[in-house]
Amino acid sequence: MTDTLEIIEHIPALRRRLDGAGPVAFVPTMGNLHDGHITLMRQARTHGRCVVASIFVNRLQFGPSEDFDRYPRTFEPDCNKLRACGIDVLFAPNESELYPAPQNYFIEPPELGNILEGAFRPGFFRGVATVVLKLFNIVQPQVAIFGRKDYQQLQVIRNMVSQLALPINIVSGETARADDGLALSSRNGYLSATERAEAPRLYRVLRELSSAIQAGATDISGLEQAATEKLLNNQWKVDYVAVRKQADLQFPTASESELVILAAAWQGKTRLIDNIEVSAG
Ligand code: PAJ
Repeated sequence: MTDTLEIIEHIPALRRRLDGAGPVAFVPTMGNLHDGHITLMRQARTHGRCVVASIFVNRLQFGPSEDFDRYPRTFEPDCNKLRACGIDVLFAPNESELYPAPQNYFIEPPELGNILEGAFRPGFFRGVATVVLKLFNIVQPQVAIFGRKDYQQLQVIRNMVSQLALPINIVSGETARADDGLALSSRNGYLSATERAEAPRLYRVLRELSSAIQAGATDISGLEQAATEKLLNNQWKVDYVAVRKQADLQFPTASESELVILAAAWQGKTRLIDNIEVSAG
């Protein structure tokens, strides 16, 4: 299955390549591929005859003071990884291909896009939803795979697909982690050695919170506060630690059992996010 990767930069060429190619499974990315991405690619293989990945660092989803310019771009190694796992087609448009004119039609997500990540990254989900819809229209996949690492992103996409009746089956992939528990992320490369050593605390704190809920603890805001303090005491800057309903990321009622704990926090200049699903005991 190696060495068959076709790299396509232009939309008409991609459409020609995919015409009649059979069910397409699609994995959109921003590149700098790691094992988390590759796991999604392997999963895609089980869902489509033709597997398409995309690499596009989407300016629309970065805020003005965010890391668009320094976001890691590692095209050649990425292609080798895609080749090694037998991906059929890489769609790698440049900016003028995807945005030949300033993009001023947008997908504006509902309130779900303004809470949690959306509250700290205004416009982020609008940028994500807009580019994902555009990529869906270009690739026209039957199945698209997204990681649960970006839990809220997955929900925004699922809701968009459902509300706009897109004929696409959204499949989710488990979060791939380093041996010490740190969720793999392209942004981990920004961490200094000291920050990298501290970074697994984020997931440890989420796991402790999850164990407390499983053991019957019910004071959600007390638990969130205690988890936040554990991070603050170790030189983290915390955007949020939040226990929410899996279904819609709203505040849980006392009877709600299917929960997810989401967090975003900074080690130095690097913002890390993670989450863990938990069923209350
Ligand atoms: P990117 O951060 O490159 O992630 C691409 C896909 O890989 C997303 O579905 C993300 O959830 C998944 N992913 C990232 N880290 C993962 C991990 N450790 N384990 C499992 N899956 C992981 O998410 C984006 O790009 C962009 O917002 C995009 C959807 C491509 C739109 O621009």
